[in-house]
Amino acid sequence: MSDLRSRIGGELAPTMRRFGSSVDLDQRLVEEDIAGSIAHATMLGEQGILEAEIAAALIGGLEKILEEWGAGSFTPGDEFEDVHMAVEARLLELIGPEGGALHTARSRNDQIATDLRLWMKRKLEELDSAVTALIEALLARVKADGHVLIPGFTHLQRGQPILLGHQLLAHAWGLTRDRERLAGARSRVDTCPLGSCAMAGTSFPIDRDRTASLLGFGSVMENAMDAVSARDHVIETVSSLAILAIHLSRMAEELVLWSSSEFELVELDAAYATSSSIMPQKRNPDAAELVRGHSGRSTGALMGLLILLKGLPSAYNRDLQEDRFHLYTAVDSTLICLEVLQGVYSTLRVNQDRYEGALVGDPSLATELADHLVSKGSPFRDAHDRVAHLVARLESERRGLHELSADEISALDPELGPAGLAGILDPREATNRKRSRGGSAPGELGRQIALLRKKLGSDPAGFI
Ligand code: ARG
Repeated sequence: MSDLRSRIGGELAPTMRRFGSSVDLDQRLVEEDIAGSIAHATMLGEQGILEAEIAAALIGGLEKILEEWGAGSFTPGDEFEDVHMAVEARLLELIGPEGGALHTARSRNDQIATDLRLWMKRKLEELDSAVTALIEALLARVKADGHVLIPGFTHLQRGQPILLGHQLLAHAWGLTRDRERLAGARSRVDTCPLGSCAMAGTSFPIDRDRTASLLGFGSVMENAMDAVSARDHVIETVSSLAILAIHLSRMAEELVLWSSSEFELVELDAAYATSSSIMPQKRNPDAAELVRGHSGRSTGALMGLLILLKGLPSAYNRDLQEDRFHLYTAVDSTLICLEVLQGVYSTLRVNQDRYEGALVGDPSLATELADHLVSKGSPFRDAHDRVAHLVARLESERRGLHELSADEISALDPELGPAGLAGILDPREATNRKRSRGGSAPGELGRQIALLRKKLGSDPAGFI
């Protein structure tokens, strides 16, 4: 077996062998590596760079290794520097010295770049399905509980009454942009570096379009040095995952708050909650807390990648071997978090009546009153001021907005009357009035759901 040490001589220190080998990280790339080699051997044969029988022998050997991998009998370890050397060594064992022809007109530099892009394309599809499933779970939750009245918060203080659906749809829009970001990243991953060799290209008459199309790539990378150096597609993907992780973390934080005994708005299903080793009453929202905690992984991976790549000289440097560590961290974390949150929202119990009575006369209806005064001709600032004074006075007297006397009502607006005030202060009516585009009124939620469903490629029929 060639260990590529004819020039250097001597043996690698055992520590260096362990330190240098990427075989552990490369376990996930075995199928991609073999696929890349089969495409390369096919093209070499078609171009007459290798004799047809040699190309066929290489392909036969590679297919056998793929079978062995599937059967669990090909088990490369850190005696190899990487997956490429492990596959080559097995090929030489299987078909003899002619196996050495496979590396004509390629380098491990374009090989690893190709393997990683193939792997990423597959994972980006899985990620898209997982984000889609979470959006679907949110839409299903909106269908079941979207009408539930809740206070909308700003600064974590009650702001204005809204429908629960309004808040859940806000998350669905963020996740929809995450899907778009990942699709954008995928379009830049989908371009083939194979045939770039070390960084200079090759004097052999290779056909790069052919290998790219055999591997299902949309296009070919046009500059060989860029092709082996570039990792911006990894940064872009992980950066999209870091943004997604922040969204998931904020959703998770909201579930933690809402499930607390102070809010009592939702309850996580037993399948996603745990108890305490000492406090028997506890029902902890661990699933949500862990999703919140996981956001450190993707954001950390992004930092790791940026630092890894900053200041690297051109073309391949061995540092690049570290890219996968960060990429895998972010991809694995995102997939499990998406799956868990999808389960959490699908099984969430919403305390539908929690705020029905609790918002009657609540100060969060003050904007309604100010808006009414504006409709009667007050400039908004004056209306704001009058209602602010009123709210301050009522608060000191421990009265709600709905407890105004007839005199106080006519002081605000002589034409209003108690029934008129009750209509203005009805929290559900207040949300029904938020019919501006993007507002919390039921019709607006329905319109958004239709738009989101269209983006998901699903049939909007039968929804709300
Ligand atoms: N094991 C390397 C990696 O994982 C593959 C490319 C190695 N190229 C080289 N010239 N040492 O990135």
